[in-house]
Amino acid sequence: MSTTVYLETFGCQMNVADSERAGIRLREAGFGFSPSAETADVVIFNTCSVRERAAHKVFTRIGEVRRLRLGREPVIGVMGCVAQLEGSSLFDNNPSVSLIAGTRATDRLPELIGRVLEGEQRVIDLDERGADEKWEVPATARTSKYVAFVPIIEGCNKFCTYCIVPYSRGREKSRAANEIIAEIRELRDYGYREIHLIGQNVNSYRPVTESGLAGFRGATPFCRLLRAVAATGMERIKFATSFPRDFHSDIVAAIDENQNLCEWIHLPVQSGSDRVLRAMRRGHTASDYLARIEAIKKAQRRMAITSDIIVGFPGETEADFRDTVKLVEQVRYDALYIFKYSERPHTPAAKLVDDVSQSEKTARFLELDAVHRRLQRKIHSGCVGREMKVLVERPSSKSDDDMAGHSTCHKVVNFPGSTATLGQVATVQVTEAKVNSLYGQVLSVS
Ligand code: 5AD
Ligand code: SF4
Repeated sequence: MSTTVYLETFGCQMNVADSERAGIRLREAGFGFSPSAETADVVIFNTCSVRERAAHKVFTRIGEVRRLRLGREPVIGVMGCVAQLEGSSLFDNNPSVSLIAGTRATDRLPELIGRVLEGEQRVIDLDERGADEKWEVPATARTSKYVAFVPIIEGCNKFCTYCIVPYSRGREKSRAANEIIAEIRELRDYGYREIHLIGQNVNSYRPVTESGLAGFRGATPFCRLLRAVAATGMERIKFATSFPRDFHSDIVAAIDENQNLCEWIHLPVQSGSDRVLRAMRRGHTASDYLARIEAIKKAQRRMAITSDIIVGFPGETEADFRDTVKLVEQVRYDALYIFKYSERPHTPAAKLVDDVSQSEKTARFLELDAVHRRLQRKIHSGCVGREMKVLVERPSSKSDDDMAGHSTCHKVVNFPGSTATLGQVATVQVTEAKVNSLYGQVLSVS
């Protein structure tokens, strides 16, 4: 019987993609997989450290696994961002952990686990990726059967003052364009109908060579990549996250010219106050950001715009917060992810005095959320009567008779249907606007 591994993933799509890669390497090395922590020989947590609460989750889970497996403890390993940042101190604080694998050790996981199984007490790897490492994940080994996440750039060079990512994931490194295109062609041939190009900042994409991009016009390599990806004929192409400072109108032009580039942009603003944006070192002002939003709103199709905002950054005054509320009212986001500022160790912002109390942070969070939801309700009501192309991804969590998926504008749409339609694209007429989703009736399926 082969050794079995249970791999649990927290955090962003990049972690999901890393877990897919790690899974492939483990399978190639002869490991089996276990569906739960209850039975596995090896339990690995792929961790997130973007906010304190996310980082703590792994410690809660380690405690749960230890209780569950009292007397027959599995090998416990921590991989990903928490592993990279905490390094060997994780061993000291968590004696049940015997393996630490950083954000770039995914391909070496089988060998690292092998060393633990052979009796080595504390195995740790925080090194860079090897020069000849492969990024590709075969179509057959994907987490989702219907939507494939394709990393195009990893790491971050922006060093926004609150953010741990440049430390946990290292410098920006773009993947070769011809490799990305080849992977997307394979996914297309295998039957995938939607892919997401992913990265901390996709529009900062800058590969070492331009091979694969020749003949595609656009001011930036990302724009040329978008056009090259569109030319593969993949039916639905989405991308996230975009960084405002590097967001140029050629991206909107590429979307206008290619129907298969979906009408959704995730463009985090973080704050509407120039003073706070400067303290965050975002490299743009509120009006720079709004100029980009204007360009997006001039696109031929109505683009859905989504964003992230941090409330309660150190030094954020009531007036700063009002600027954020004003910006949200101006933009009218289709979806907004609001976070209370969370101090992350060793970031520049951690040296600032956090003078916004927890109760003030909560009050701002709730107020901004209410403002956003009022505007979002209007957008959702405006969708009633419209037809949307929805990729059928899963049964609805709310009703056994309904299926759920995303529209090309990346809204969750529920509708009556059966699992027979999974993976197909349903044309849905929207009949009702709910709080976080839309509801409709299927007109046709293809
Ligand atoms: N505190 C709160 N939110 C944060 N984010 C990143 N770092 C922090 C932090 N220290 C949010 C940002 C980012 C999203 C992924 O997480 O809004 O866009
Ligand atoms: Fe963090 Fe800023 Fe990089 Fe985004 S752009 S990952 S917020 S440092």
